[in-house]
Amino acid sequence: MSGFGVYIHWPFCAAKCPYCDFNSHVRARYDEARWAACVVRELAAVAELQGDRRPDAGSVFFGGGTPSLMSGRAVGAVLDGVARLWSIAPDAEITLEANPNSVEQARFRDYRAAGVNRVSIGVQSLDDVALKALGRLHGAEEAKAAIRLGISVFPRVSFDLIYARPDQTHQAWAAELKGALNFGTEHLSVYQLTIEQATAYATLARQGRLHLPDEDTAAGLYELTQEICEAAGLPAYEVSNHARPGAASHHNLTYWRYGDYAGVGPGAHGRLTVFERRLATQAERLPERWLAAVEEKGTSLTIGDISRSDAAHEHLLMNLRLSEGLDLCAYRARWGLSPPRARISALKEAGLLTLKDDRLAATPRGRLVLNSLITELAEKPEYQTAIG
Ligand SMILES: C[S@@+](CC[C@H](N)C(=O)[O-])C[C@H]1O[C@@H](n2cnc3c(N)ncnc32)[C@H](O)[C@@H]1O
Ligand code: SF4
Repeated sequence: MSGFGVYIHWPFCAAKCPYCDFNSHVRARYDEARWAACVVRELAAVAELQGDRRPDAGSVFFGGGTPSLMSGRAVGAVLDGVARLWSIAPDAEITLEANPNSVEQARFRDYRAAGVNRVSIGVQSLDDVALKALGRLHGAEEAKAAIRLGISVFPRVSFDLIYARPDQTHQAWAAELKGALNFGTEHLSVYQLTIEQATAYATLARQGRLHLPDEDTAAGLYELTQEICEAAGLPAYEVSNHARPGAASHHNLTYWRYGDYAGVGPGAHGRLTVFERRLATQAERLPERWLAAVEEKGTSLTIGDISRSDAAHEHLLMNLRLSEGLDLCAYRARWGLSPPRARISALKEAGLLTLKDDRLAATPRGRLVLNSLITELAEKPEYQTAIG
């Protein structure tokens, strides 16, 4: 089952990190209650699109930006709005992304009281020098305190780390990762540093002022990450996400299993199946324009149909991120096509794919080169004469 999830983008941050190209903005002040009310209005527009065939919400995710800048009251107001529009499943996963600064830790209990049952903390590193280089406003001790508090307040905790950082050695990363795993959380997101265009890091990299690991070193760090996390009982269930069995993020699984999700707030996107149509929704990116559009028209969303072949391509792309891979039989039934057998065989031979009981999955090495793998697979799909 791929479920239905609700994503809320909170676009504000206390400072802009030099590596980050998420839709995040620093604003001296804003009217939080007004923003939360507009989030609920845009959610209502999505619910209206779904009409009376609204699924239950299996997950709600507050992402950013920095949703931990929200007060518990604003989080509660948004969750009340979600509950007025959809039935929230009794076991729904309600996640909030939090930065580990002490000011934000002080709100953890309010979030729990508002209904949040999972926190995802942006730790990034447990090393003070690295945190400074990443432009973070918190130090290692603050981050550790946030993880400990998170564990005591929320039933489920995850945190994020970034590796393949400038000047990082295998040895230092292994020690840092093992230290992180010692906290015993059920879930860990471990991202390889990406130099995104138009960030301060991109400028530094162009000027030769970031000593980044070369491709082979980064690939070595990736393999090391897989080994260490697996040995600690948190194998990868997705390219960058590790969890104990059964503790994967339901919300993120909805994306990767190509389910339906509402996406509201500046820059958020969504995917909805309405009758036989696959719809893509895209919210206005700039915060102030988003607010103005929602206040004027009730929504900022642009809505478009995704063609059958584009949807099939997206489905393949999303499923192959997961270690469980793609159910070829279900895929053929849904889209009436499948990747060419000869390509699958060649990629199997190359050690990049596995095919077992009609389940196609990328190997850890395949997940490292996922984009080229998908380009190979998506080219000239084989169409089925009979769907099934
Ligand atoms: C949407 S961000 C929000 C998290 C939260 N605002 C924070 O910074 O703690 C989610 C995660 O993406 C990761 N991330 C952001 N930019 C990245 C980059 N350029 N390379 C690798 N990971 C990145 C970080 O680990 C971050 O915690
Ligand atoms: S990494 Fe997090 S805190 Fe930093 S700018 Fe991006 S969203 Fe904001």
